[in-house]
Amino acid sequence: MQQMVEESELESEGDQIGNEPTVQPVGEQLAAENTVSPRNTLNDLSGREWIAETKSVWFQKGLGAKHPHAQIERQHPAPYSYQDVQRLIQFFTKSNGRVLDPFVGVGSTLKACALSGRFGVGIELVPRWVELAHKRLLEEVGPEAGETQEIVQGDATKILADPLRFPDESFDFMVSSPPYWAILNKKADHKVRGSRVANGLATNYSDDNADLGNIDDYEVFLDAVCGVFDHCWRVLKPGKYASIVVSDFRHGSQFIAYHADLIERLTKPLYGGRYELQGVTVLAQNHKALYPYGYPSTYVSNIHHQNILIFRKPKALRSSTTTLRSARKVSDSQQPGKASNGHH
Ligand SMILES: C[S@@+](CC[C@H](N)C(=O)[O-])C[C@H]1O[C@@H](n2cnc3c(N)ncnc32)[C@H](O)[C@@H]1O
Repeated sequence: MQQMVEESELESEGDQIGNEPTVQPVGEQLAAENTVSPRNTLNDLSGREWIAETKSVWFQKGLGAKHPHAQIERQHPAPYSYQDVQRLIQFFTKSNGRVLDPFVGVGSTLKACALSGRFGVGIELVPRWVELAHKRLLEEVGPEAGETQEIVQGDATKILADPLRFPDESFDFMVSSPPYWAILNKKADHKVRGSRVANGLATNYSDDNADLGNIDDYEVFLDAVCGVFDHCWRVLKPGKYASIVVSDFRHGSQFIAYHADLIERLTKPLYGGRYELQGVTVLAQNHKALYPYGYPSTYVSNIHHQNILIFRKPKALRSSTTTLRSARKVSDSQQPGKASNGHH
């Protein structure tokens, strides 16, 4: 019986294949709203559009590998879809809002900002990706994008520490996808060999020591990534949001719940976390091919989704949150799960 109810619910919603979701009247008046509420201080969406975006499952949008505007993006080993990011930007900012991406890669966030009438600032360590991001904005948006989008080349850890260049409370939204530990430095598997090595495409970001994707120790890596997001917290206006798009991954036979580790560090005071977690949206990647990992003896998941972590900087600052992460680091023995989390 339970099964039948669930199936009929799925059918009526019709979004298991990625169709537009049906908005149910949670508050009748709100659901019927087709205009932007004068009380809406967050974005330029109508009540109807707002509610649809709060659904905790999204289906990844993409141009398709053959699209002319996918060719620059393809050079980078781990870009995200500018269309998904555009949805986030349009939900979490109003027109002319200022958006920061500390790991901007080939500029997907900035393309989304340019197409949405927002001012974007991206930081990227690797000159090659910076060059491609400029090219992408010029070719895929137009020269006018150069007037609203800024790319800073260098180490986000250092650049964001400069309060003169990045003043406190100067951004309306932060959205980014950080490196996934050093997984790109692993020996290429058959999937990477077939899709990237065979096409002469890069398989990692760089060999630079400042590249967080080159840190071998997972705990050190997490601290470094969260250090950058700490700086982002400082430059974010109170009451505003930060979204981090990450996938979990495997390291040998271990499953690393990267999204959960980031949440823990960014929200728990014990780790110096100051963000408040508001939700996790699953970004389903229905288009990916399935591989027979583990078959026929062992369960190995085909990871076909990313997680969009949605954090908020509280409106009123808590008094205990004024010192920096580095000053509040606790000893290894005090860290919950340090000895048992099995990352190493
Ligand atoms: C997951 S990719 C981001 C891709 C981006 N979202 C896009 O769509 O192109 C992470 C990026 O962080 C960059 N990166 C690594 N360490 C960095 C650092 N210390 N400062 C700034 N960027 C860094 C890498 O070069 C890489 O391009």
